[in-house]
Amino acid sequence: MLVAASILSANFGKLDEEVRAICDAGCDFVHVDVMDGHFVPNLTIGPVVVNSAAKSAVKPLDIHLMVENNTFFTELFASIKPKYLSFHIEEEKHPHRLIQKIKSYGIHPAIVLNPHTSLQEIEYILEDIDMVLLMSVNPGFGGQSFIRSTLKKAKTLRKMIDSAGLKTLIEVDGGVNDKNVHELKNAGVDIVVAGNYIFGSSSYKDAIDSLRV
Ligand code: DX5
Ligand code: ZN
Repeated sequence: MLVAASILSANFGKLDEEVRAICDAGCDFVHVDVMDGHFVPNLTIGPVVVNSAAKSAVKPLDIHLMVENNTFFTELFASIKPKYLSFHIEEEKHPHRLIQKIKSYGIHPAIVLNPHTSLQEIEYILEDIDMVLLMSVNPGFGGQSFIRSTLKKAKTLRKMIDSAGLKTLIEVDGGVNDKNVHELKNAGVDIVVAGNYIFGSSSYKDAIDSLRV
């Protein structure tokens, strides 16, 4: 299991130090939640702060957009060159076009599905993306409880990906901890995002290690 540490639960008063600490502790990706106060009822950080965090990161960035205007935010974050840039399918009228735009910047495109969103929404664009991010909480806040129907969804997605012979990764975000990570592994998940679990722990390294199942 790969581990993406979500900085949403970091101490923003010393963000650079926190980003260095999770990288030193062995996370595989630095997960950055960008919220616009419209798509989700919360507002987080823009390119100035993300740029600063990116300079402290020695691991690749995984930017999760939770915004209304995906194209605008894609252009805004393109120069930071994250490894993955993910956008919500619920908020995009032209996903195929946006995927091509993300690729044109040399960034791996990913699509996010809210807990209620059907996998059928991405059936015909699965081959065009590098990762699917399944939300296991309603997006907007850290520290929420894991929604268990995500396990069934991940299993079905795993079958879709494997039967199409694709290499698309499955990432799960929200309420992940050392108790549910084994079930996620069994469901065929490749990457877990964890915020509260890692930053709420006295040892970031122990927390990350406990997710690496
Ligand atoms: C929620 C964010 C998550 C969040 C996860 O909208 O997308 O990345 O940080 O936090 P935890 O792990 O605390 O549920
Ligand atoms: Zn996220």
